[in-house]
Amino acid sequence: MTTRHFLTLLDFSPEELRQIITRASELRRMQHEGVLYQPFVGRTLGMIFEKSSTRTRVSFEAGMAQFGGHGIFLSPRDTQLGRGEPIEDSARVISSMVDIVMIRTFDHAMVETFAKYSRVPVINALTDAHHPCQLLADMQTYFELRGDIAGKVVTWVGDGNNMCASFIHAAHQFGFELRVSAPYGFEPNLDLIKEYAHCVTLVEDINEAVKGSHLIATDVWASMGQENEQNTRARRFSQYMVTRSLLDKADPDVLFMHCLPAHRGEEISYDLLDDPRAVVWHEAENRLHAQKALMEFLLKDKIHFA
Ligand code: CP
Ligand code: NVA
Repeated sequence: MTTRHFLTLLDFSPEELRQIITRASELRRMQHEGVLYQPFVGRTLGMIFEKSSTRTRVSFEAGMAQFGGHGIFLSPRDTQLGRGEPIEDSARVISSMVDIVMIRTFDHAMVETFAKYSRVPVINALTDAHHPCQLLADMQTYFELRGDIAGKVVTWVGDGNNMCASFIHAAHQFGFELRVSAPYGFEPNLDLIKEYAHCVTLVEDINEAVKGSHLIATDVWASMGQENEQNTRARRFSQYMVTRSLLDKADPDVLFMHCLPAHRGEEISYDLLDDPRAVVWHEAENRLHAQKALMEFLLKDKIHFA
């Protein structure tokens, strides 16, 4: 049997993605009701972090503990990976000792190589190219608050970064129309736009882009690893701040999402997260439930369901 991985949203079928987010909502309800559900007793998650994190680390580690399992935090500062041990060798060794692995790193090729040599499922917990776990939580949140996203209009505002690329995959997999409103020169990879032209368009004018939108999402202007571009980017993105008045131009039922951390006064106005249309706390919490559902799905042959 081949090992399944979750490196991008394309690794699962649309039906499997929907199954995972439906299950995530069930796990959310169980967690809120205080139901103890521990299908992972004796199971271990290897957590490789080469970049900083709050949400991803806490959600994976807490999720694993809630499931009765254990998460091992591995940073390059303390492991041989950080001293240049080949990824292939690390993957063989780590995957012989744990049941599942999540990796947050820079180069997407690193998670692909790790997955190739891993005996156990590998989850991409953010690379420079994609952030699929965030999209599971975002889709779960939209479905919980507004129902099916198929046929809806979603506008991505700002940098054509890893989050934007995962939104493009989500548009294809969940059947919504995505408008990307980015400053010239900061659009997502144009090959990606071409490949997904059936569901993605570039609309440089931010006010045009949000008209009639059901969901607006944005992210920081400078991602991790781009700190030295912060000042240039702040100038180039200055027209791309999401404000309450921008949301007023969208559909009356619009929601606003941000993967967080957010920079008030840059990509969002100071008061945006206080607006009831902003659902970022619900979205952030759903990282926990969506990833529990994801791990349960990837390890389904090893566990007993509640
Ligand atoms: N959204 C997200 O991935 O947050 P962290 O960087 O805190 O994990
Ligand atoms: N685009 C951001 C997302 C952080 C969760 C980054 O890569 O830093």
